[in-house]
Amino acid sequence: MFSCLYLLLAVIHTVTGQISGGEIGWVGEPTDPGPAWPLQTFVTEPILRPPVIKTDQSGPAGDNPIFLDIQGTDQQAGIIVSPSGSLLWSGGNGSLVNLTPETLNGQPVMLAWNGTTIGHLEAYGSILIFDDSYELIYDVKLQDPELGNEWPSYANTHEVFLTGRGSVVVTTAVRKGPTDLSFVGGPTEGYFWDCLIYEIDVKTNQVLFKWSTADHNNTVPLTDSRALPFGVGYGWGNTTFPWNPYHMNSAQAVDDGYVFSLRHTSTVYHVVPNGTVTWQIHGSNETPQMIQQFQMGANTSFSWQHDARVASKSNSSLELHLVDNNNELPTQHNETYGLILTVDLNNMSVTEMARLTDEKDPQGTFAGGSFAKLDGDADSHWFIDYGFVPVVKEFDAAGNCILTMQFGPKEGSILSYRAFRAEWHGYPKTKPKVGACWTTDRVHGPVTRVHASWNGATEVAGWNVLLGSSSNSNTTGLTKMGAANRTGFETVTEIQGTYTFVQVESIGGGRAPHTNVTSEIIPVDGTCV
Ligand SMILES: *[C@@H]1O[C@H](CO)[C@@H](O)[C@H](O)[C@H]1NC(C)=O
Ligand SMILES: *[C@@H]1O[C@H](CO)[C@@H](O)[C@H](O)[C@H]1NC(C)=O
Ligand SMILES: *[C@@H]1O[C@H](CO)[C@@H](O)[C@H](O)[C@H]1NC(C)=O
Ligand SMILES: *[C@@H]1O[C@H](CO)[C@@H](O)[C@H](O)[C@H]1NC(C)=O
Ligand SMILES: *[C@@H]1O[C@H](CO)[C@@H](O)[C@H](O)[C@H]1NC(C)=O
Ligand SMILES: *[C@@H]1O[C@H](CO)[C@@H](O)[C@H](O)[C@H]1NC(C)=O
Ligand SMILES: *[C@@H]1O[C@H](CO)[C@@H](O)[C@H](O)[C@H]1NC(C)=O
Ligand SMILES: *[C@@H]1O[C@H](CO)[C@@H](O)[C@H](O)[C@H]1NC(C)=O
Ligand SMILES: *[C@@H]1O[C@H](CO)[C@@H](O)[C@H](O)[C@H]1NC(C)=O
Ligand SMILES: *[C@@H]1O[C@H](CO)[C@@H](O)[C@H](O)[C@H]1NC(C)=O
Ligand SMILES: *[C@@H]1O[C@H](CO)[C@@H](O)[C@H](O)[C@H]1NC(C)=O
Ligand SMILES: *[C@@H]1O[C@H](CO)[C@@H](O)[C@H](O)[C@H]1NC(C)=O
Repeated sequence: MFSCLYLLLAVIHTVTGQISGGEIGWVGEPTDPGPAWPLQTFVTEPILRPPVIKTDQSGPAGDNPIFLDIQGTDQQAGIIVSPSGSLLWSGGNGSLVNLTPETLNGQPVMLAWNGTTIGHLEAYGSILIFDDSYELIYDVKLQDPELGNEWPSYANTHEVFLTGRGSVVVTTAVRKGPTDLSFVGGPTEGYFWDCLIYEIDVKTNQVLFKWSTADHNNTVPLTDSRALPFGVGYGWGNTTFPWNPYHMNSAQAVDDGYVFSLRHTSTVYHVVPNGTVTWQIHGSNETPQMIQQFQMGANTSFSWQHDARVASKSNSSLELHLVDNNNELPTQHNETYGLILTVDLNNMSVTEMARLTDEKDPQGTFAGGSFAKLDGDADSHWFIDYGFVPVVKEFDAAGNCILTMQFGPKEGSILSYRAFRAEWHGYPKTKPKVGACWTTDRVHGPVTRVHASWNGATEVAGWNVLLGSSSNSNTTGLTKMGAANRTGFETVTEIQGTYTFVQVESIGGGRAPHTNVTSEIIPVDGTCV
């Protein structure tokens, strides 16, 4: 079955390992997980297994952390990492796709999609919103009798867009038919996946806007689809494998409506609240019957794109940026670009502003990805995620690549559908964690090795180490025996002597006024292994 989700290929892959060859999926799609990639492990957080993050920085890239939605490892998780690649937070159990730092009612929040995949490619989930303590504050559900009532929520993974008016924009896919699809080479009693935009109120789950692509086939005709021919790749057009003509993969609320991307028409659209499609920019001229409204300037073409976003400048001219994937199939690795266009709605012209790529290390991803302009200490930099290729890059304002992070093999199953970079200060309500064991140091003799971490506490500067002596092995008699600066997600330090009880106290990191926060007191875990 085909939904609007390539992404789920990977999720299914790892969660159930159920890719069943020719029945679904793409011809040539990799079915093995690819080369091994090392995972990080921590003494104090044994269930966290983020991939090792290789970082190559060649210029000032700012201090803000990076948000990834890791899929394809044994722990599906949202993670936050520092610009040097050090883990700051890992959370979620199942999926936290589209992990996005945002502001809701003036407060910092994180949003992400979480849900269930069923059969092969369908997905039903809700939008989780967390505060800066990583506590769940909203679980936004898409509910509409027309979508069914089997699932608690029908949002799919492709879009999680928080508006400035306390609502989220999501997409969903629903099976349509039977309908005569013979005019595009399909069955006369054919089925296809319609793609819909919904805007939902965060607090009440009320549907504020709903728009169906199939209902607007006067302006978005099925003949505009490039998802042909019918078959394994785009669906057979029957109930089990409906045709996937649109593949909506982004939807954004803008001042005067919504801007959305259909990958399978290589087109970006603007729809106003009454449902009228007011403009559409066809990125490719390979579907000759399409009516191009715009005069397309040099180098403005794009195809199979993701994450189309508009930054409004004025009523008549806007900046449009997107990931120009430039690849139809998993077997293709044409160069993928971050494309920035100026759209002039007075003279209906599209001009290329920039087409970003790292010439020394070009990436080619057939699906997934995000592309956004940064602010704050990396003002006017551009940040790109390469979807199915587990690489993110930052470009400075002049278009030079200054930061590359890789977190999986390029031909494998680890990926982050999108990635974000923004200011974030996390103050978890959990306590710091500690672990300790005994070992021998060549210089100092017997030592107690202490591990300290605090998942999500971004502001911790270091650790005070409190130990209880073995000759007085009671848990109330701990004394501060040393301190260490933070060296990463887990700080490891050694204190001379053999102690039996240990506790750590953070130096900073807690929410004021209780900035230094203690762990539990635990017994030392014997000799280090
Ligand atoms: C996720 O849940 C599974 C059980 O469903 C559990 O075994 C695993 O430890 C959990 N992982 C995390 C990171 O919480
Ligand atoms: C995430 O989705 C899974 C699968 O639907 C569900 O079991 C789990 O409870 C969800 N987690 C949260 C925090 O809602
Ligand atoms: C096009 O849309 C109209 C109504 O919006 C519908 O009656 C018709 O069946 C649609 N055609 C196809 C091929 O879906
Ligand atoms: C749909 O088409 C595929 C490929 O021909 C076939 O395997 C499947 O059984 C068909 N499903 C139905 C309901 O006809
Ligand atoms: C929908 O809104 C657009 C722009 O505001 C307007 O031009 C158009 O006439 C409206 N269409 C209908 C059917 O109301
Ligand atoms: C279009 O791209 C080509 C090749 O990169 C370049 O030589 C040319 O200057 C570009 N044209 C414009 C108008 O940017
Ligand atoms: C832009 O449009 C808004 C509402 O449609 C209007 O109030 C405003 O005056 C317009 N601005 C310009 C510069 O035309
Ligand atoms: C990408 O590369 C393939 C060859 O591997 C080529 O056939 C195709 O036209 C290229 N472009 C796109 C947009 O897929
Ligand atoms: C459209 O107008 C803009 C200025 O707003 C100008 O830069 C551009 O060259 C014009 N394009 C065409 C095709 O006339
Ligand atoms: C526990 O340690 C404290 C401080 O060293 C000491 O005052 C107290 O007597 C000890 N209690 C026991 C039961 O050993
Ligand atoms: C911690 O770092 C500061 C400077 O950043 C340094 O002065 C201090 O000696 C370090 N402390 C330890 C325990 O390494
Ligand atoms: C936190 O610990 C550090 C290092 O021991 C200390 O300098 C600082 O005063 C403590 N802060 C508070 C609020 O107790």
